[in-house]
Amino acid sequence: MTILVTGARGKIARAVTTGLAAAGHNVRVASREPSAVPAAPGITVAGYDAADPAPALDGVSQVFLYSDPSLALAFVAAADAAGVKQVVLLSSLSALGGPEDPHAKTEHVIAGGSYATTRLQPGAFMSNAMFWAHQVRATGQIRLPYLDAEEAPIHEQDIADAALRVLLDGPGNGHDGRGYPLTGPASMTRRHQIELVTQVTGVPIEAVDLTADQARAELQMRDAGQRETLLAYWASRVGVSQPIEPGVELLTAHSPRTFTTWLTDHPGLFT
Ligand SMILES: NC(=O)c1ccc[n+]([C@@H]2O[C@H](COP(=O)([O-])OP(=O)(O)OC[C@H]3O[C@@H](n4cnc5c(N)ncnc54)[C@H](OP(=O)(O)O)[C@@H]3O)[C@@H](O)[C@H]2O)c1
Repeated sequence: MTILVTGARGKIARAVTTGLAAAGHNVRVASREPSAVPAAPGITVAGYDAADPAPALDGVSQVFLYSDPSLALAFVAAADAAGVKQVVLLSSLSALGGPEDPHAKTEHVIAGGSYATTRLQPGAFMSNAMFWAHQVRATGQIRLPYLDAEEAPIHEQDIADAALRVLLDGPGNGHDGRGYPLTGPASMTRRHQIELVTQVTGVPIEAVDLTADQARAELQMRDAGQRETLLAYWASRVGVSQPIEPGVELLTAHSPRTFTTWLTDHPGLFT
C-alpha cells in the first residue's frame, strides 16, 4: 500500500519521505508545485490540491498531513472515501493553547474521520533560523521582535523521526487518537540562539530587537492574523522558560538534537 506525504517541498515532509523510502515503503509525495519535487526510486510525485485532495489520496492507506485549517473538511471526506487507515497530522504545540487556535481547529476536524489519527505537536522549529540566514547574508543583522522570548526549538529531523515511528508502527499500535507535544532539548532565548550561530559559524551578527510595530512593518507573513498570533505568542514567552516535552524520546528512543547540531547539519547557511 502507498503512504502519501503532503507538503512535499517542506523540510519535514522531505525527511519523512526519505525515511519511509529507506524502510522500503511505496511513497507518494504530493505538493502544490509537483514540478519542483524530484522523483526517486520508490517515490512518486503527485499534485496536491487541498480543496480537492481525492486524486492524491487514491489507493493510499496512510497519510502524513500538513495542516490546513480552511480545507480540513475536504480532506476528511476524501480520506474516508479513499479508505485511508491512518493520518499523522503535523500540528503545533500552539494547539494546546485552546480551541480557537488554528491548529487546534484543524486537529478537531481531522479527528472526525473514520481512520486512526495521531497529532504531532512541535514547538518552534530550529529551521526558522533559515530565515535569519537570509538577513545575515544580506545585512549582517538579525532583526526580530522579542529577542528575550524563550522557546525550545526542535530539529526537523526529530519531528520526522517521530512521524516515522508512528507511520511505521501503523494504526492500532498505541498511537491512535494521541497527541504528542514535541520540543527540542533546551529552553533558550532567541538572543542566545543568535549567539550560538556566531559561536558555531564564526560569523559576527548584530541582533536587533524590533518593537512590535517595527516587526509588523518588516515581517513578511502569509496573513496579518497569523502575524498577530505570533507576536502575542512571543510577547507571552519573554522571561518564561519553555517546558521540555518528552515526546521525541518517547517516540524515537533518542534525545532531541541540539541547536548546535542543527547548525553543523546546515553548513554554509550563514556565510
Ligand atoms: N515553523 C515553526 O516554528 C512551526 C512550529 C510549529 C508548527 N509549525 C507548523 O508546521 C507546518 C510547516 O511549517 P513550515 O512552513 O515552517 O515548515 P516546512 O516543513 O518547510 O513546510 C513548508 C511546506 O508546507 C507545505 N504546505 C502544506 N500546506 C500548506 C499551506 N496551506 N500553505 C503553505 N504551505 C503549505 C508546502 O509544501 P508544498 O508547496 O510542496 O505543497 C510548503 O513548502 C505549518 O503548518 C506550521 O504552522 C511550524
